[in-house]
Amino acid sequence: GMSDMPGMDMGHAGHEMGAMGQGAASLPEGEALRALPPLANEAGRPGLFKARLTAQSATARFVADRDTPILAYNGTSPGPLIEAFEGDRVEITFANRIGEQSTIHWHGMPVPADQDGNPMDPVAAGADRIYAFDLPEGSAGSYWYHPHPHGRTAEQVYRGLAGAFVVKAKADPVPAAYGDTVLMFTDLRLAADGSMPDSTMNDQMNGRVGDHVLVNGQKNPKLTVAMGAKRRLRLYNATNARFLRLVFANAVMTVIGSDGGLLEKPVATDEILLSPAERVELVVAFERPGAATLTTLDYDRGWMGPGRPADAGQTLLTVDVSDAPAEAMPPLPERLRSIARLAAPTVSRRLVFTETMAMNATGMEMGFLINGKAFDMGRVDIVAKAGEPELWEIVNQADMDHPFHLHGTQFQVVERERGGRVSKPPYLAWKDTVNVARGETVRLVMRQERPGSRMYHCHILEHEQLGMMGIVDVQA
Ligand code: C2O
Ligand code: CU
Ligand code: CU
Repeated sequence: GMSDMPGMDMGHAGHEMGAMGQGAASLPEGEALRALPPLANEAGRPGLFKARLTAQSATARFVADRDTPILAYNGTSPGPLIEAFEGDRVEITFANRIGEQSTIHWHGMPVPADQDGNPMDPVAAGADRIYAFDLPEGSAGSYWYHPHPHGRTAEQVYRGLAGAFVVKAKADPVPAAYGDTVLMFTDLRLAADGSMPDSTMNDQMNGRVGDHVLVNGQKNPKLTVAMGAKRRLRLYNATNARFLRLVFANAVMTVIGSDGGLLEKPVATDEILLSPAERVELVVAFERPGAATLTTLDYDRGWMGPGRPADAGQTLLTVDVSDAPAEAMPPLPERLRSIARLAAPTVSRRLVFTETMAMNATGMEMGFLINGKAFDMGRVDIVAKAGEPELWEIVNQADMDHPFHLHGTQFQVVERERGGRVSKPPYLAWKDTVNVARGETVRLVMRQERPGSRMYHCHILEHEQLGMMGIVDVQA
C-alpha cells in the first residue's frame, strides 16, 4: 500500500528552489531532423508484428565532448518507432536491463489489462517478458509506450524511456504524398557537466520541467520542404510535465487527428495546446518560401512556489521552405472517417482532484489526491462493467491543471464547465488524455470493452507518483 510511497516532505524545499536552470548547458540547433528509427518487424508473415525492446543504460551526445548517461530502448531515445497495422497481432519481448523494475505500458492502446504494463505487473531487473495483443479494426492512431513501474515512472521517462507506436489504417484517407512524420517532444534538463540532474522538491510539486524541449531528441532541428508542400505530422507531448501551446509561423495548420486516430473531418486551427501525454495529428501546408517555425506561447498551467519556467518563445522546429515549387499535392478529403457516438451513459462517476498541504514535524507535506485519497495498489477505486457506457466527471479543485488519462480505452469529451459556463468541444474526437484546467470540470463518456484492472491518473508523472492515480476494475 502506501508504506513505500510516503507523502512528500517539503521541509527543505527552499534550498532547492531556484536551482532550476542554473548552469544549464546550451545545445546545438539547426541540424537536419532525424526520423525516429523504425523497430524492425522480425515476423516472417503478414499480420504479425514481432520484435524485441531492450531497456538499458546508454549515452547521448547532447553537447559536444560530453556524454550524457540516459536510459534507452534499443540504444535510442526516444525509443524506436513501432509501426503496425489495424488487425495485426503484436508480440514484443521486453528485456529489462536497467537494473531496477520496469514495465512497458502501451499508452492509449486497446490492449488486455494484463498486457498493459501496469504497476501491478512489474518486470524485475534482468528479466524478460512478452507483451502480446491484437490491434482491433478501427484502432489506427498515434499511441506511445513508456515504463509504468510503481514509484519509478517519472524518473525512467525523463531519463529517456519513451517511444511512439503508430497504428496504421489499412485504407488511409490521407494522401501518401504528405508523408507521415512523428515529432516526439521531450524535455531535457542538462547540467553543465553533461549530466541530467536529479529531481528536486520543486519538480515533485510542479512536475519536472526541463530546460530544452527536444524534437526526436534534437533541439530545434531543421526540416526542408518545397514551396506548396503539405506534410502530415504527428505531434507527441512525451514530456513529464511541460504544457506545449504551439503556433506555426508561416505555415497553415489543419487538425486531422487526436490521440485515438482521425477526426471525422479536417479542422483549421491557429494554435494547439498539447498537455503532457496528448497527441495531435496535423496536415501543415507550407505556401510561402522562407522559414516556417513551430514555436511556443506562454501557457499558465498553475505553478506552486517561485520559478515558473518561461514557456514562451522557444522554437521547437524550423522548416526551410525552398522557393522551388513542390509537385502538385493531392487535396485532403473533406471526410476522413466517421466516429460512433457512444450510447447514453447508464452510470455516472465523479472524480475530484485536489492538492493538500499539511504541516508535520519535518515540514510541509503535500498530497495529490483523487476523491480525497492517494493511490493504493491494493485498493480498487471503481468497479465498472465491460461494455457499459459511462459518464465520468473530472473535477479539478486544485491550483494546477491536471491532464487526466485513462488506460485501455479511448473516450469522448462531452463538455467542459468553468465558473458556471458550459462549453462543448469544437469537434468529436477519440482521446485518452485530456487537460482539466484548475477550477474546471470536464465530462467525458467512455466504454471499457476489456475486463481487468486499469489505471487512471494525472499524466504529470510526478503527480501520478505522489498519489494522483486510481484503479478501475472492469468486470466481464
Ligand atoms: Cu502514459 Cu498510465 O500512462
Ligand atoms: Cu496510459
Ligand atoms: Cu497533476
